[in-house]
Amino acid sequence: MSVLKVENITKKFGIGEATVIALKDINIEVKSGEFVVILGKSGSGKTTLLHLIAGLEKPTSGNIIVDGKNIFSLSENDRSLLRKKRIGLIFQTFNLIPVLTVEENIELPTINTNNKNKSYTEELMKILSIDDRRNHFPNQLSGGQQQRVAIARALINKPAIILADEPTGNLDSQTEEEVLKLLKESQKKYHQTVIMITHNEDNAKYADRIIKIQDGRIKEA
Ligand SMILES: Nc1ncnc2c1ncn2[C@@H]1O[C@H](COP(=O)(O)OP(=O)(O)O)[C@@H](O)[C@H]1O
Ligand SMILES: [Mg+2]
Repeated sequence: MSVLKVENITKKFGIGEATVIALKDINIEVKSGEFVVILGKSGSGKTTLLHLIAGLEKPTSGNIIVDGKNIFSLSENDRSLLRKKRIGLIFQTFNLIPVLTVEENIELPTINTNNKNKSYTEELMKILSIDDRRNHFPNQLSGGQQQRVAIARALINKPAIILADEPTGNLDSQTEEEVLKLLKESQKKYHQTVIMITHNEDNAKYADRIIKIQDGRIKEA
């Protein structure tokens, strides 16, 4: 069964001569439990695609179907609920809340859910080596530490779908390997669907499938 369908997506930014076609006629179908890597150079449209899949931005044309629902036919409120319930998002820019500690940032998605599970917070902080920073604030952390907090926050609810934008972009190679393994293990253990963006081919080794994107188009193998 497919959890996600990207149907004929085109996304343009700007108007007139300043128009940028970020994505052109993109079609992707992702099966439940699949680990898909989207590989492409900087500026190829990867982040735009992930934001559309998450329903954070609207396409110029085309549809995004999540769990059989066309997310852009939902109200903004229902779309945001679907995102909260089903999706764990790792942003390229982390998007941590500055006034919350590491631990509070990680547990933020569990507010209003029944998923309060201290031991899972502990487990994720340990695996990601941020347990000694639990009471620190984001501006007291290195880029790599912030990235690991963002990863823990995305996993805390054991979401059905994980969308990860360059999740190892700020990490040293050892931590990078640990994060990739964590995503793979989480995918297997909780039967999650992972869509991970990267510009680095070496990061694609745990993928069930690699989709290459170039200048806003899918590059056929
Ligand atoms: N908000 C925006 N306004 C105008 N152009 C944008 C915007 N977001 C992205 N773009 C353009 O769309 C293209 C794809 O960007 P992006 O999706 O961020 O690529 P990637 O993540 O692969 O580096 C780039 O040419 C970028 O400049
Ligand atoms: Mg990007």
